[in-house]
Amino acid sequence: MELDKRHIVLGVTGGIAAYKAAELARELLRAGATVQVVMTQAAARFVTPVTFQALTARPVFCDQWDDRVGNNMAHIELSRAADAILIAPASADFLGKLANGLCDDLLSTLCVARECPLLVAPAMNVQMWSNAAVQRNVARLRDDGVTLLGPASGDQACGETGPGRMLEALELVEELVAFFTPKRLAGRRVVVTAGPTYEPIDPVRGITNRSSGKMGFAVARACRHAGAQVQLVAGPTALPTPAGVTRRDVLTAREMCDATLAACAPACDVFIAVAAVADWQVTNASERKLKKDEVGTTPELAFAENPDILRTVAALPEAPYCVGFAAESEDLQRNGEAKRRRKGVPLLVANIGHQTFGRDDNELLLIDEHGTQPLGRASKDALARTLVAEIARRIGADESASTP
Ligand code: C5P
Repeated sequence: MELDKRHIVLGVTGGIAAYKAAELARELLRAGATVQVVMTQAAARFVTPVTFQALTARPVFCDQWDDRVGNNMAHIELSRAADAILIAPASADFLGKLANGLCDDLLSTLCVARECPLLVAPAMNVQMWSNAAVQRNVARLRDDGVTLLGPASGDQACGETGPGRMLEALELVEELVAFFTPKRLAGRRVVVTAGPTYEPIDPVRGITNRSSGKMGFAVARACRHAGAQVQLVAGPTALPTPAGVTRRDVLTAREMCDATLAACAPACDVFIAVAAVADWQVTNASERKLKKDEVGTTPELAFAENPDILRTVAALPEAPYCVGFAAESEDLQRNGEAKRRRKGVPLLVANIGHQTFGRDDNELLLIDEHGTQPLGRASKDALARTLVAEIARRIGADESASTP
């Protein structure tokens, strides 16, 4: 799991978004983290410590005079154990305390006593968020190396609309996963194709394939976690866009080719072709819906070959580092190597195509000029992370990567 072995101190301060912190605690646990909740007195007016204790199976701390910690130094013990402190929600009052180094309760004291990274997810009314003093505090926190997560814009509990909403629980977990990922592709531009394509026969019918897009979306997500600027060119799929990724939706292979070439210009460092692109397009597609009684006999379709996007990009004068995918049903190694050469790419990722469609896991084999390297069976997200590390190593981009 993506937050395995991470110990997170979840600080909850006084605001109505405290109710979302309960779900956040649950999602952090689901992602593999251990969660220690520390609340301010005001937070405990919105949600009781019992809620968090039940969810995290750990005692919740609210008071700096709590004598449950042996040496009575809860602020030191709690911050020492943490890989990161996440304050969600962070009230305007608490941001002010943090920006000024105040220590008048357990949570503010342990933030000052910390050695680990501090992330804050502000949540407040839109007027409070735009208040000059709050903005000054936020700017100072950024200068001090504190990571700001959000706030988002939208409807607020007070009835107003605008910036100040706390990010949703899953968005915060996603930010935390990204935060902990080594920035192996920092400053790199990556283009990823994903999903199936769709070749129309008439306005309501077409030819497509069973690709779900999950592998390509996982790759785009992993690249962005690694610090890359990512453009995702997606065929028809209902998958949500990974946070921080720029997405362009396309239908046909031709459109995917045009969008990919545009995304690769003027400069792109890595191109990862995960999409299952249709090999042929229908050249006599009808403008109107074909009607059974009008056609009379079975319609005859004529086909022309689609552009090979991967080969086209690999042949560009200043081609990025190109990675192809191959869905093979037998002899992965031999067929994969033949395809790698045919496409003219340094790295090819082979998988057993028909068995992976729509699933959350996969089994990959990396093929390059030196031979093959099995990545084994794992979730598509985990495989995508490993693949990104392998690509970064091959382009010599991971030397400076640091993990918090
Ligand atoms: O030739 P085949 O379709 O098996 O090759 C698979 C690889 O080539 C994948 O990386 C796929 O995204 C890419 N491809 C492409 N354009 C095509 C066909 C395949 O980019 N027209």
